[in-house]
Amino acid sequence: MTTLEIRDLHVNVKQSDADAEPISILKGVDLTVASGETHAIMGPNGSGKSTLSYAIAGHPKYEVTQGSITLDGEDVLEMSVDERARAGLFLAMQYPVEVPGVSMSNFLRTAATAVRGEAPKLRHWVKETKEAMTELGIDPSFSERSVNEGFSGGEKKRHEVLQLGLLKPKIAILDETDSGLDVDALRIVSEGVNQYKERENGGVLLITHYTRILRYIKPDFVHVFVAGRIVESAGPELADELEENGYVRFTSAATAG
Ligand SMILES: Nc1ncnc2c1ncn2[C@@H]1O[C@H](COP(=O)(O)OP(=O)(O)OP(=O)(O)O)[C@@H](O)[C@H]1O
Ligand SMILES: [Mg+2]
Repeated sequence: MTTLEIRDLHVNVKQSDADAEPISILKGVDLTVASGETHAIMGPNGSGKSTLSYAIAGHPKYEVTQGSITLDGEDVLEMSVDERARAGLFLAMQYPVEVPGVSMSNFLRTAATAVRGEAPKLRHWVKETKEAMTELGIDPSFSERSVNEGFSGGEKKRHEVLQLGLLKPKIAILDETDSGLDVDALRIVSEGVNQYKERENGGVLLITHYTRILRYIKPDFVHVFVAGRIVESAGPELADELEENGYVRFTSAATAG
């Protein structure tokens, strides 16, 4: 049983111009994600959802100015990016990075070695990755291609879920894993996430704009994220309300307050 606890999190983003003042993005996020739970975060563009995921993963551009993030009581903010991954945190990014010159198979084995603390035995590893790729409908030829280079949007997302299945984190943050997926891929990728949940009893933080993925990956909680904070939390029915009415009720309250 693992618990990721976020308390009163405030985050600034550093601007590329080093002299420019950092911009305040997160303004007091409170969120607890435990093993076996699925939390969906929905909110307007630019409200800070990806910033939250980067802050949890330890992206150097995002500076925590207040509040805490702990994993089973351990201070995540004290950990390096590597240590966070080894502790069991995983982030599937909204825009996965391309790494020219590094093959997918090398990348995956290196990542698994880092997270597991020892290199997976080659024979087992080949079998393991092959099976995981077949399940996600990924062509074996992708193993030899450079990480994400020239991958279509949907292919990148499938590979993120492939990593999830192979790295078996305790808590997975999936930032718009559904964006750009065709209907069949959406179903396959959702099955991959559900399988991860079942096999690992993982906790999932799912950032999405669309309720359609929530038909496949059932959330236990839905949170509305507006202007750098969670402004409302409820059960899955909240997603349907958002689909119907949008965020107006929440955004007008945020600006009035
Ligand atoms: N490096 C940066 N420099 C300047 N502004 C930034 C930077 N990174 C993020 N921001 C700003 O922070 C705000 C929050 O961005 P973020 O990507 O977290 O939003 P989001 O909720 O994920 O949006 P979307 O739904 O479009 O993915 C945006 O206004 C964005 O422009
Ligand atoms: Mg985003």
